Amino acid sequence: MLVLGIESTCDETGCSVVADGKTILSNVVSSQVKVHEEFGGVVPELACRQHIDVFIPVLDRALKNANVTLEDIDLIAVAHAPGLIGAVLLGLNVAKALSVATDTPFMGVNHVEAHLYAPIMSCDEPVEFPALGVVLSGGHTALVLMKDIGEYQLIGETIDDALGEAFDKVAKMMSLPYPGGPEIERLAREGNPHSYPLKAGTIKGRPLHFSFSGLKTAVLYSFKGQNAKKLAAETLSHSEKCNMAATFQRVAFEDILKKSLKAAELYRCKTLIFGGGVTNNQALRQIFKEKAPDHRLLWPSPGLSLDNAAMIAGLGYHQYQKRGSGCSLDLEAQSRIQF
Ligand code: KG4
Ligand code: ZN
Repeated sequence: MLVLGIESTCDETGCSVVADGKTILSNVVSSQVKVHEEFGGVVPELACRQHIDVFIPVLDRALKNANVTLEDIDLIAVAHAPGLIGAVLLGLNVAKALSVATDTPFMGVNHVEAHLYAPIMSCDEPVEFPALGVVLSGGHTALVLMKDIGEYQLIGETIDDALGEAFDKVAKMMSLPYPGGPEIERLAREGNPHSYPLKAGTIKGRPLHFSFSGLKTAVLYSFKGQNAKKLAAETLSHSEKCNMAATFQRVAFEDILKKSLKAAELYRCKTLIFGGGVTNNQALRQIFKEKAPDHRLLWPSPGLSLDNAAMIAGLGYHQYQKRGSGCSLDLEAQSRIQF
């Protein structure tokens, strides 16, 4: 079964053709980093305009790279939530229009669930359930009990900033370019990870929940003192930035590690499945490799950790197999969605 995947929930426009939920025939992503860079974060209105400009060329390229035409497509899968509402709407309407024009069923897919499907796509051995899903993206940080593909229970989440968002904000405080995650990882390699007394947030009575906004503010105060109004990043030396990047990253990842292992124990999960842009970080992979040697760790392969349409097509295939039919044209775009 050939599935065309469509992704436009934030600042990446993606189209991909996937066979039988697993074999990626093409995976085209047009990133808007250059457009948003000068603003230090994603500007929703600009994101929408950019999606409009590139959708057709990205679609064309995905079909060409896969050596297929629209007539060969059996299902159109689209991320219909969660994300920037205007951006999600664009992708959803492209999917609906293609579905009507070609008389092909279409399937709405939860973008966050698709992040957790990404590592399963490139895994040759069968995946054992229940597994613990660890979502670490720019918009979401969550621990998810995965009972099967498509059967999820949220067991922990951030009560404020997502982890990727915290990386981006800390990077911005140090005048590093957007997106900040990869920059922090780069500087952290040169820094001392025990340079500042930082702590990640804990929430009373909810041991599997996260809080990163206090950690982020602590970074600001560490540089400027308790009365900080504005950070003068230009006064920070290179080594101060490296030390802060290393310390912030260590503290954040130790928090993720501790809560993930606690959840895995509570829910008896031997396999941990990681999804979202932050899982690109090699220091994160290393800490889990060292401290969780008895668990099977499934990471997204290159090209599948940041937003992409292959994971949407892959999960869409499974949803269609389960339901036996596509979604109705009434399906709405949603900026938020529950598991
Ligand atoms: O999953 P994603 O592409 O988009 C969302 O669904 O949000 O994740 C983007 C996030 C950004 O916050 C970015 O800074 C972060 O992932 N990120 C990283 C790294 N690469 C991307 N964070 C830490 N280390 C990295 N190497
Ligand atoms: Zn994402």
